[in-house]
Amino acid sequence: MFPVLALLAAPVLMAQHGNTTQSNPHDSEQDRAAGAKLFATQCTGCHGKNGSGGSAAELTTGVFRYGYSDAGLFNSIASGIPGTAMPAFKLDARHTWQLVAYVRSLGEGRAAGKAKGNPARGAKVYASSGCQSCHSIGGQGGFAGPDLNAIGSTRSLGHLQRSLLAPNEEVSWDYWSLLGRTAAGERIAGLRLNEDTYSFQILDSQGKLRSVAKPDLAEHQIDRTSPMPSVEGKLKPDQFEDLVAYLASLRGAQQ
Ligand code: HEC
Ligand code: HEC
Repeated sequence: MFPVLALLAAPVLMAQHGNTTQSNPHDSEQDRAAGAKLFATQCTGCHGKNGSGGSAAELTTGVFRYGYSDAGLFNSIASGIPGTAMPAFKLDARHTWQLVAYVRSLGEGRAAGKAKGNPARGAKVYASSGCQSCHSIGGQGGFAGPDLNAIGSTRSLGHLQRSLLAPNEEVSWDYWSLLGRTAAGERIAGLRLNEDTYSFQILDSQGKLRSVAKPDLAEHQIDRTSPMPSVEGKLKPDQFEDLVAYLASLRGAQQ
């Protein structure tokens, strides 16, 4: 990975990410209730009652391997998951978003209750570990990584721990990078914001948006490693528990 990515021009990244990580426009209590009804009729056959896991994946862990952004969940439902039994559901967009709202709610509140550490001490660990150069909480911080303002209400404890120790294990496609070389010999590197049949849209290390035509690339690869450094070996065990407890306590209240 290129460490320069951490220094990206924040406003550009935020604006562009809007395209690939649209957040759920139908996320009210009523939407969740409507989503729950749809889920009961369309999804429990495979995912079990309340997503507790039948023949298919359990949906209550707060971990979504096939895309954990709202847009990623929308895609899993609307397009299905190739190579698995998960079919595409051709519902209208509103109903699909309502399912996203409901599925998201299934993992809620799992983290906070079980954390062992001390959230107040964890806030200090967060502040002294450089996390805010990439993440924001309550509108403060950087944009190279996801906003953590409500991370405790959408993620399980296990997911938070794994995110800190092994960031490369689950990297949402929103954070994959393109590495390549053009036929003319120019090296290409940047965060892969979008991809279509003919081109990649990337954010390069100078924070500039550019489009790279696929036929111009002599070689390229998609790097799915996370720009986030692991905290493994950098924190004492009690500092780690405190940090996890702090993240688990973040439920969007600061906004
Ligand atoms: C025919 C069985 C079946 C039905 C019906 C079904 N699913 Fe799935 N679903 C699966 C399978 C299988 C997977 C992939 C599991 C895996 O590979 O871990 C999956 C995966 C998912 C995922 C991604 C989980 C992840 O880890 O990223 C979501 C979200 C999801 N389903 C939601 C739904 C919703 C919402 C419905 C109802 C509209 C639904 N599913 C109906 C079988 C089904
Ligand atoms: C160089 C930038 C960078 C730094 C520094 C950084 N992160 Fe991250 N972080 C990211 C990126 C990018 C992602 C999303 C990709 C991924 O899942 O690894 C991420 C993901 C996460 C996630 C998972 C988010 C989710 O939606 O599930 C958590 C939690 C997290 N970071 C916490 C932290 C904490 C706590 C620190 C400080 C110890 C930290 N990060 C430092 C860039 C960074």
